Amino acid sequence: MKSSLALAIIFVPLSTLVVASPNGIVHRGCDDGAANNSKNKCGDWVQKPKGQASFTSAEDCVLAPSCGQNFTSGFTAAVNELAFGSNHSFGDACGRCFKITPTKDPFSPKFTGPFGNHIIVKVNNLCLPHNDSGNASQPNWCGQTVSNPLNTFNMSMHFDLCAPSGASAAFFPPPRLAMLGKFQEVSCNEWKGSQGNPVWNGSCMAPANAPFWPATSCGNEGCPPP
Ligand SMILES: *[C@@H]1O[C@H](CO)[C@@H](O)[C@H](O)[C@H]1NC(C)=O
Ligand SMILES: *[C@@H]1O[C@H](CO)[C@@H](O)[C@H](O)[C@H]1NC(C)=O
Ligand SMILES: *[C@@H]1O[C@H](CO)[C@@H](O)[C@H](O)[C@H]1NC(C)=O
Ligand SMILES: *[C@@H]1O[C@H](CO)[C@@H](O)[C@H](O)[C@H]1NC(C)=O
Ligand SMILES: *[C@@H]1O[C@H](CO)[C@@H](O)[C@H](O)[C@H]1NC(C)=O
Ligand SMILES: *[C@@H]1O[C@H](CO)[C@@H](O)[C@H](O)[C@H]1NC(C)=O
Ligand SMILES: *[C@@H]1O[C@H](CO)[C@@H](O)[C@H](O)[C@H]1NC(C)=O
Repeated sequence: MKSSLALAIIFVPLSTLVVASPNGIVHRGCDDGAANNSKNKCGDWVQKPKGQASFTSAEDCVLAPSCGQNFTSGFTAAVNELAFGSNHSFGDACGRCFKITPTKDPFSPKFTGPFGNHIIVKVNNLCLPHNDSGNASQPNWCGQTVSNPLNTFNMSMHFDLCAPSGASAAFFPPPRLAMLGKFQEVSCNEWKGSQGNPVWNGSCMAPANAPFWPATSCGNEGCPPP
């Protein structure tokens, strides 16, 4: 059960996408010249500051996440491509912080709780637009597309919580590793992570900051899934 729900996040190799700035801070997202070749504001992303979402847990999420910074500390999560804002790396979701609250078991709608705890996660990774295992019997969590923007549980937003960051243990009511619930974007000042580490600062991560969605001052790159 547990392993079947843990998602395989496929990482885009970052060695060719990360550029070091003169002051040593790694630049990502909005100011990343290395992504020029695919910078393409297609305008079809689904990026809302609050709403309903589905949630799962991932194990392989510490090294080389798609926002360019290896894990240091604090609860982190990947989001589906339609929300992430890129089909490769450095999406507009990078560095944004969300309060997430579990309210329902997707597999046992009659489950009345306890549902687990709300926590605040920082997005640092992309959950690619295909279903998790390639097994048609498994739910499609992250495979939302422009033409089909809802996943198996009718959610346009999905968070895949990074278990090694502690997020899964703090969020899910055991033994569950998948829930439905709600999300709301919040200031990263509320996130208990690598505060004081400039590369883990606000939305789009340092050195950038952007207002809550739907503002996308860090921009979106590449095209959303068709
Ligand atoms: C990105 O585009 C800018 C402006 O056209 C250019 O100066 C820069 O060299 C490009 N970067 C890369 C990595 O192609
Ligand atoms: C992340 O960790 C890997 C493996 O240790 C390393 O090769 C890579 O350079 C690190 N990336 C950054 C951005 O520090
Ligand atoms: C999951 O992926 C498999 C293989 O790519 C595909 O056949 C199946 O239809 C997908 N299932 C869902 C629910 O999208
Ligand atoms: C696909 O998922 C079903 C349901 O969980 C499972 O019984 C089956 O063994 C899986 N198939 C593969 C190839 O993993
Ligand atoms: C998703 O919405 C469709 C259309 O309203 C409905 O038929 C289906 O039961 C819903 N699926 C879930 C898992 O709620
Ligand atoms: C990141 O946040 C820390 C602590 O609030 C602050 O000292 C630092 O100047 C910020 N860095 C950037 C690049 O905004
Ligand atoms: C991302 O989308 C661009 C078009 O905007 C395309 O050229 C590129 O191949 C895509 N990259 C991936 C990894 O799908």
